[in-house]
Amino acid sequence: MTVSPLALGCWPLAGMTRTGVSRDAAIQTVAAALEHGITHLDTAYCYGEHGESEHAVAAAMHGRRDQIVLASKCGIHWGPDRKQVIDGSPDRIQREVEESLSRLQTDYLDMLYLHTPDPNIPIEASASALRGLLDSGTVRAIGLSNGSVEACQRFAAVCPLAGCQRHFNMLQQEIRPALLPWCRSNGVSLFVYWPLMKGLLAGGMARDRVFPTTDSRHKYPMFQGEEYQRNLDFVDAIQQVADRLNVSLVALVLAWTMAQSGITSVLVGATSAEQIEANASALHCHLDEAAHAEIVEAIARRGPVRGGRTV
Ligand SMILES: NC(=O)c1ccc[n+]([C@@H]2O[C@H](COP(=O)([O-])OP(=O)(O)OC[C@H]3O[C@@H](n4cnc5c(N)ncnc54)[C@H](OP(=O)(O)O)[C@@H]3O)[C@@H](O)[C@H]2O)c1
Repeated sequence: MTVSPLALGCWPLAGMTRTGVSRDAAIQTVAAALEHGITHLDTAYCYGEHGESEHAVAAAMHGRRDQIVLASKCGIHWGPDRKQVIDGSPDRIQREVEESLSRLQTDYLDMLYLHTPDPNIPIEASASALRGLLDSGTVRAIGLSNGSVEACQRFAAVCPLAGCQRHFNMLQQEIRPALLPWCRSNGVSLFVYWPLMKGLLAGGMARDRVFPTTDSRHKYPMFQGEEYQRNLDFVDAIQQVADRLNVSLVALVLAWTMAQSGITSVLVGATSAEQIEANASALHCHLDEAAHAEIVEAIARRGPVRGGRTV
């Protein structure tokens, strides 16, 4: 299976980063991605309290399923009070996959991830359920998202593991010491999310911006207080590199992420056809050695960021 180096992350389509993303805008965003050669789509059972992301993907994908590498995830659903529930039990996995296929109007998935290991059951039990779906031909490949190296090893002992998924961007490179080299040595593809740090690295965020509680970014330390200001200082620094190369900031950030050795595909979320056009320009953006060196220096000057969640 071959995936585009840039993939469309379909979480924001469900209005879950910020509210106010219409169904039409969501469908147009996916359609624009396909037109720009971004043919790997990353969605999940829980993207939208009622599967809004999978529904939008289905509508945009209509008639061109065979041109798309479609990934979804199972093992997280929404409970009462808009709280995410982690449940990787075999019954739940089976039910969610059937529902995802129905929402996506397809009879197979190219990739199915366990969204996150379920702390309440052995990971082998989830892996075994996913193996059943692989063996039956319902899915073409299986991935593990948000797993440690140890979780990946235990999972892979039960079910062939084709891909891992974790967050990674210029300021959050926790996968470097362990997961990235493990994936490389074991021939497991590595898909990274949050390349734009949930929009922060795209630039244009005001210094005094306050994220309302309806915007899921309000709870992350990277968008709060001194931490937020220091991140915006970093954005100013890399904007200068983009200006020197005469490219947009998003093109610089995404091109840098795609250029990191060991990364298979970069999952970037978007909410409009305009954002897709800007993001797709990264596919044609080349960073010279001086740019790489300037970015490394800016990252070092910024220093470690305060953590974010992994799910
Ligand atoms: N496995 C997991 O647990 C997990 C967790 C998180 C994400 N993911 C996957 O990874 C994907 C990427 O993560 P993400 O969407 O959270 O974060 P991201 O890709 O770092 O940032 C996406 C946000 O950046 C903004 N943006 C995108 N293109 C832009 C542009 N050209 N100019 C200005 N702003 C732009 C949009 O903000 P606005 O909404 O404000 O327009 C969008 O919502 C997700 O969509 C999902 O598929 C997986």
